[in-house]
Amino acid sequence: MSSSHNTQEQLARIRAVQARADNPVCKVSGLASIRLSRPDLTEAVRFFTDFGLSCIHNDGNLALLRGTGDSTASVVIERGPARYLGFSLTVDSADDLQRLAAAHGVSVADNHPQRGGQVIVLRDPDNLVVEVMHGWTHLQELMHSEVIPANRPGHSPRINRTVRLDYKHPPRIFRLGHTVMGVTNFVNSLGWYQQNFGFIVSDFQMMDNDPIPVVAFIRCDRGDTPSDHHTLAMGSAVEIGHMHTAFELPDMDAVVAAGVVLNRRKHHHTWGIGRHILGSQIFDYWRDEQGDMFEHYADGDLFDASVPTGYHAFGGDAMHQWGPDLSADMAGKIPSLHLVQTVVSRLRNRSGDDLSFRRLKNLIRHAG
Ligand SMILES: [Fe+2]
Repeated sequence: MSSSHNTQEQLARIRAVQARADNPVCKVSGLASIRLSRPDLTEAVRFFTDFGLSCIHNDGNLALLRGTGDSTASVVIERGPARYLGFSLTVDSADDLQRLAAAHGVSVADNHPQRGGQVIVLRDPDNLVVEVMHGWTHLQELMHSEVIPANRPGHSPRINRTVRLDYKHPPRIFRLGHTVMGVTNFVNSLGWYQQNFGFIVSDFQMMDNDPIPVVAFIRCDRGDTPSDHHTLAMGSAVEIGHMHTAFELPDMDAVVAAGVVLNRRKHHHTWGIGRHILGSQIFDYWRDEQGDMFEHYADGDLFDASVPTGYHAFGGDAMHQWGPDLSADMAGKIPSLHLVQTVVSRLRNRSGDDLSFRRLKNLIRHAG
């Protein structure tokens, strides 16, 4: 269900943040990887290989995994307490990296030998590690999962051939797509990402009586070159930090087959299969042993820089066009102890924090 034109205009008027920065330090080209720490690398690697990634390095202290089309490891796991540490963005020029380094007073360093090239390490307003990479050693593409051509009315590429899917092995993930985080102060965080990296807001989700958006889906500004509808998304609700990270599979059949394999291997299903509204992708959500959420997706939107920002009402029915009702887990109705502690601490310690009792009540009312 899309918002009416009037609602869009009204939400655009009240929003407290801009849709894109006028003069960003640079424009990043993509998301290269997420960084995690896990107490048991064997268990973590098992989850991600069951999810469809290939492990390319594991020495017991550091594990690297990738999709078939990723040009560098897209999941970097170090041994340590279970945490989401941050992520790595990419820039197309060494000048961009130098400019960012100068703007933040940090040095450009050689990246880990497994990755190559140069890197700078920044901290976002919530202290999340944001690396920016340039000149990394591009990995060769691996063999992709097979895509069986689909017959459609008037277009039948599959003749004398059947559809038989493999439900025994995980379909191979193509690449890392996006990562989503909850932030303490939405205006600060969105402004920081826009001003430093040139991100464009593809869509805002908002409540009708609050200038602070609940969600912003943001994409890379690559001019005429299409970019994923969202490379990052940020939420101003109850969670702080990692909300989920998404990986692309070739098509809907692969998303279904991947789910069958994960179910058989006793992994924890969260919500799906369905099709989102904002981003349009087919989705299926899972949690790993540590409770972090990961998404399989296929067939997402690609926008170039010309597409204007959309404004949409936030609500429980605003997430998907078809699929099962929002699960209790996805809707936050079975909060973890960690989430309860986060909410209590945010409500107690309000300095610069968007969350208040009033906003919490408003969020619950709008979520239905
Ligand atoms: Fe997602």
